[in-house]
Amino acid sequence: MSRILTALQPSGILHIGNYFGAIEPMVSLQSAGNQNLLFMVDYHAITVEQDPHTLRQNILFAAATYLASGIDPEKTILFQQSRVSEHTELAWILNCLVRMGELERMTQYKDKALGKGQSVSVGLFDYPVLMAADILLYDTNIVPVGEDQKQHVELARDLAERFNKKFGETFVVPKPQIRKEGARLMALDDPHKKMSKSATSEKNYLSLMDDEKTVLKKIKAAVTDSEGTIRLSPSRPGIGNLITILSLITKKTPKEIENAYEGKGYGDFKTDLARELTAFLTPLQSKINALLKDPSGLLKILDNGASRAKAMAEKKMIDVRQKIGVTLSS
Ligand code: TYM
Repeated sequence: MSRILTALQPSGILHIGNYFGAIEPMVSLQSAGNQNLLFMVDYHAITVEQDPHTLRQNILFAAATYLASGIDPEKTILFQQSRVSEHTELAWILNCLVRMGELERMTQYKDKALGKGQSVSVGLFDYPVLMAADILLYDTNIVPVGEDQKQHVELARDLAERFNKKFGETFVVPKPQIRKEGARLMALDDPHKKMSKSATSEKNYLSLMDDEKTVLKKIKAAVTDSEGTIRLSPSRPGIGNLITILSLITKKTPKEIENAYEGKGYGDFKTDLARELTAFLTPLQSKINALLKDPSGLLKILDNGASRAKAMAEKKMIDVRQKIGVTLSS
């Protein structure tokens, strides 16, 4: 039996990169035998400014999205990070093991802190340590994530090994699981950058809540190149990204897509891609909206998930506290 765990920030928008990078792999790993945990990392979200009312809504929206995507709360423990205080407790202990230099090397921190100077929050700097705590607390074997989180999972591995060496075998050393296609969907308006929900322009991403008109507008405006053919090539990241998206949605291989569009141009391809995207998003959106109409139903699922996660985390922390020497009774 493997323990599979992933988490996403409840920051309002979930885009198709989040869906294919983390949510869909998590749904497909729900099969028999695995023990799954999926949670909304609200304490990660507050590393940048959040409006409390909006944050509350975003947490429920994220939960509804996972359920609508096929997460089964019987098979996957679905919860809110802040409800299990052991996450922040373990983060503190790991803070005392991690080195400043390790965190300074984190590319996501460097990107996010760029240009912010001294005004960047300590929480943003420390973010990967909280993420390591999220993972190690549950003896996680596999962490399905997009490419951008690989470095953070590697830090979690290093911290697990460091702790085990210093205090004796305590943590499972986790492995990232990164899909081959779609682990790094690129921005529609700049295929050299990753699709990102913190982008300043909405033209960057396809939100899971975009309607037909918006999808068509964004796809029509998506940056390609002047070659006009539907072919994958490392020198053509724009069309390559769109082929990848169509491949993920239709489950056709990029090769099949190239063949189907032999002799055709961007116009036909983009119209078809927008149609496929809408056909994929519309039923998902109906399910999300139906779930959001019953907030008490969602709260019940999250309460149940929090108490199951809490029981596991409490047990682990008894061992951790004992190992580091702060537990006085034997
Ligand atoms: P977050 O919320 O930024 O992203 C959630 C997931 O979506 C993936 N992702 C992408 N995948 C493909 N293409 C993209 N353009 C793209 N953008 C984002 C991310 O890789 C991620 O898997 N630190 C994490 C959340 C976290 C976590 C954890 C993850 C906190 N604790 C423990 C796993 C385990 C984050 O901010 O993800």
